[in-house]
Amino acid sequence: MLRASAVGLLMSVAALAATPTFNKDVLPILQKHCQGCHRPGEIAPMSLLNYAEARPWAKAMKAAVIAEKMPPWFADPKYGHFANDRRLSTEELATITAWVDAGAPEGNLKDAPLPIQFQDGWNIKPDMIIEMPKDFQVKATGTINYQNILVKAHFDEDKWVVAAEMRPGNAKVVHHMRAIVRPPGSTWLAKAVPGEAYEEGSEAMGGAKDGTDLLGKYNPGLGAQSFDVDGSAKFIPKGSDIVFNIHYTSIGTPQTDRSKVGLVFAKAPPKKRYWMSPGTPAAFNLVIPAGDSNAEVVSEVTVGVDDAKLVYIQPHMHLRGKDYEVRVTYPSGEAETIFKGKWNFDWQVGYQLAKPLAVPKGTRILTIAHYDNSANNKFNPDPGKTILWGDQNWDEMQSGFLGLVFDVNTDVSKVFKSSGPSLMPRGTSGPTLAAYEATLKK
Ligand code: HEC
Repeated sequence: MLRASAVGLLMSVAALAATPTFNKDVLPILQKHCQGCHRPGEIAPMSLLNYAEARPWAKAMKAAVIAEKMPPWFADPKYGHFANDRRLSTEELATITAWVDAGAPEGNLKDAPLPIQFQDGWNIKPDMIIEMPKDFQVKATGTINYQNILVKAHFDEDKWVVAAEMRPGNAKVVHHMRAIVRPPGSTWLAKAVPGEAYEEGSEAMGGAKDGTDLLGKYNPGLGAQSFDVDGSAKFIPKGSDIVFNIHYTSIGTPQTDRSKVGLVFAKAPPKKRYWMSPGTPAAFNLVIPAGDSNAEVVSEVTVGVDDAKLVYIQPHMHLRGKDYEVRVTYPSGEAETIFKGKWNFDWQVGYQLAKPLAVPKGTRILTIAHYDNSANNKFNPDPGKTILWGDQNWDEMQSGFLGLVFDVNTDVSKVFKSSGPSLMPRGTSGPTLAAYEATLKK
């Protein structure tokens, strides 16, 4: 509401000033906020690089930005500030609106900013590209379980990575994927043949994921990931290999995919290590009752190391997810909500904290999620079913990928310990915050 009236005010101010033109006023906004996705080869359905491309979409652009549907961004502005905040400023909103209302004039070409140089599809300039050695055959129909593909990477020395980007070979079938560092000596996928795809439960999957670290992620709207927060980088031990963990979806015709990950290496030894939690905190014990339109599920970890700072939050849920909150309780007992946002399964946005947040040893990080398992949720595959944790979209997850920076010598197996509600036995719903607090009173 507030925003709408601010737009109204600015529109009248803008009306007094010169009419905005595409080249002078609108193109810089599209370059900054839209072309990352709206250009050939990217996920948006149409390109918005120049006047000819953008003009037919003028009215739709106005509607999409006023409704805050575009750019996609779901964080509640009341909690936290984020370095990758995609939202338009009030002035930018008013400029697009006034331009459309004035008939979307082109203006003078010499007022246009230089086009942004996008390099061969990558948003980063990779020093190394690791690609699956052979195509994965995606069947035309039916469920496809998560695929794990070991790729020999030939890191002949320890490496520090400041940025990574995963690019799907075939974006039509890659729903989302991860590139995971498998350190030498790991028993995970120890018997795997490089390039072959394995599912959870197959013998080749081998042992636990100890010592692994999430290197790169891809899902629509996520973009490249930077690990440089005040001089930090992600560590890849000498002799490591990369595991591609991919969720494919069938689209009615047989397809193939060969995805890749690009890496930018640090030019100097880093001051800190950047580490991504493997989807924790998590509520593996979750139960979402059939028909419940606002089921709560909470999970928690306790920080187990000194001098860690939280820098990144990416919630993960499936088709019934509604919202997600991160609440931090410091060892002093003081608590604060550092993130709250709507959930949108199509986007899976990650939020980069504008300022790293110190989370001293003993800090509890609690996440609170809500789900709509009623028939009113148009994405709900089956409102008549009680839902448990599972990989597939019709199961659920309550999981957070949290990015932290800490001393380069920190033992990563000690960073997070499951605690509180995450350790409760599975009940008939939840675990909810109220149910957990009731156990404390006993
Ligand atoms: C993170 C990627 C991304 C960014 C950034 C982005 N878009 Fe989009 N946009 C998409 C995708 C994907 C679609 C198609 C799916 C959808 O409508 O959600 C889309 C759809 C649209 C549509 C069609 C909407 C409709 O109602 O059918 C418009 C108009 C649009 N975008 C305008 C913009 C403008 C203007 C900006 C910048 C201010 C922008 N987008 C930023 C990815 C993006």
